[in-house]
Parts: sequence; structure tokens; C-alpha cells
Amino acid sequence: MTMATTGHAGAPPASSALRRDLLGLQGLHADDIRAYLATARDLIPSASGKGMHRDALGGAIIANLFLEDSTRTRLSFTLAAKRLGADTIDLTGAGSSASKGETLRDTARNIEAMGVDAIVVRTKASGGAALVAESVGCPVINAGDGRHEHPTQGLLDVLTFAEAKGRLDTFELSGLSLAIVGDIISSRVARSAIAAFTTLGCRVICVGPPTMAPKGLACLGCEVENDFDSVLREVDGVMMLRIQFERHGDATTGPTAPAAAPTGRTGSLREFRAFHALTQARVKLLRPGAIIMHPGPMNRGLELDHAVADSGASVILRQVSRGVAVRMAVFRTLVRPPQ
Ligand code: CP
Repeated sequence: MTMATTGHAGAPPASSALRRDLLGLQGLHADDIRAYLATARDLIPSASGKGMHRDALGGAIIANLFLEDSTRTRLSFTLAAKRLGADTIDLTGAGSSASKGETLRDTARNIEAMGVDAIVVRTKASGGAALVAESVGCPVINAGDGRHEHPTQGLLDVLTFAEAKGRLDTFELSGLSLAIVGDIISSRVARSAIAAFTTLGCRVICVGPPTMAPKGLACLGCEVENDFDSVLREVDGVMMLRIQFERHGDATTGPTAPAAAPTGRTGSLREFRAFHALTQARVKLLRPGAIIMHPGPMNRGLELDHAVADSGASVILRQVSRGVAVRMAVFRTLVRPPQ
């Protein structure tokens, strides 16, 4: 596997020949994506506490720098580190010296100066993870940066899909298709998923109203469709996305807004429900065996029905579970335990 430029975005890091980062999936070679996935597949039993990998990163310290809220990603990175025998330290935006004006670059340098072996970073800023990687010498793993990328989410989405479709041996996804539906334009999850799924041969159709799924997204290698109903019978899986009101710059709207309220990116929540939500009626039109995915957090009753989220076709909690295996695989690949 080529590690020197693993998923780097933007300018190359200071010591590129020695860098071991995961900043994104766009531009990553299929062999590198497959290597992460194969390692994660083999770690699935250990991710749930079975098997012995507790010495793999014994003595290592992982810093979790989460400057934006998280439930799944933050806890699963922590759990993955502990399953491999590493220790973790945590810094969140609330209570950090970022509130006093400290820059992301200085925050990262200070964390590294304490002697950590890797930094996991989530920021509101697109490109924030690359900025951290340029600023420190230890491995940096992007846990979601603005609208840019969320690479470990993309890997866990592929792992879950490949498992459901019986493609865990090679992760070859040709002949399969996935619809990613909703607020694509705001979504780092969608960008990482489009990169990973298409690189492995899957047909990806991004679906949403034109304000959330503009035709220009096709430059990412996906198809773009505004009519959800027209793709339901064509796909082997549907990944619903949350409407990211917080990235629309419109504080007057949100999941608790009145149903007819304008959202800024769609005419109204009622209109979004009518044309782009995964309702029980739409699920009936899916192919037999089609799976339902969501990266979380879900807005139940908005982008998908309560019953759909909890249905037999839903693999949403399996995605969360596979996230631990993927993050263990990323640590195994990138972090060297102290000698
Ligand atoms: N999927 C995801 O990134 O969830 P969190 O924001 O809870 O980490």
C-alpha cells in the first residue's frame, strides 16, 4: 500500500515521504481502499471484543480532537484504540483554548508536543484535517472536516454494503448500484462514499432536489437524479442523508420547524417529505434484497420513516458496528506503536 500520499488533499505535508495519514478517499487507489477494507473485515470479531489484538498498539496514545459534535465517530475511534491496546486523550471544542482564539494549527502542535502517536481530528472547516497534517509529524486521521470528507465513514459504508451483498472476498462492486439521497451538497459522507463506491466499481446515483443534488455533482463520478421514484427499482441499496440545517446558514429552520417552513435548500420540509423521503410506500418499490443505510444521526420522520429505520432491510446499526472494525483497521495501518 502506498502510504506517502494516502488521501491527502491540498498541499503535500512537510515530510511527505514519511507521512501516514488518512485525510480522504478521493484519489485513493482501489488497492489501498481494498487493503483497509480487508483489514477491517478480518478485525470484525475483535471489534466486538472477540479475539486478541490488545497488544497491537500497546503503549500508543491517540489524541481525539473533536471540534464539532459527534456520537458514533468519536466513541468508535476511542473504542477502536482501546481494542488495540492504545490509550486515548480527548479534546472537544467546548472547554478548549479554541474559545480564546487559539488556531487549529497551534492546537494540533501543542497536542503533538505532549507526545501522542496519532491525532484524530473533526472540524467544521473543510480542509481542516489537511491543515493539521501539514502542522504535525504524527499520523493524522480525518474524522470529518466540514463538507469535504469523512473517509472512515466511507470505508464503513462500503464494508457494510459489501457484506450485505456477499462481496467481502474482493470488495469488487461492479454490477451493483447505490442511491445516495438527500442533502448531498452539504455532505462529507456523500463525497467519501462516492469516491469509495465508484472506485470499487459500484454505480452511484445521487438523488435530491436540485438545490441539494445539483447536476454538477456528476464531476465526482456519480450520476445525478432529481426524481427519487425513478431510481427505486434500479438500486441494490439506498443511503439516506440527514438534512444538514446547520450548514445551510439559516438558523430559523431545522427538524423542529413547522412542516411548511422553507428550509433554504428545499421549498419546505413537507415538499422534501413528499418527493425525497424514504417512506414505507417507497420501500415497497425497492428491489428484493435492497438494503437501507444511513450514516446517522437520523431525523426520524423526516428523511426516512420510523418504521423504515427499524425495518429488516435496515443495516443502519450494522454500519455503526462496522465503524469500530474500520477504525481499528485504520489505526493498524497508520500508527506505529512506541518501541
Ligand atoms: N456518522 C457520523 O459521523 O456520526 P457522528 O456525527 O455521530 O459521529
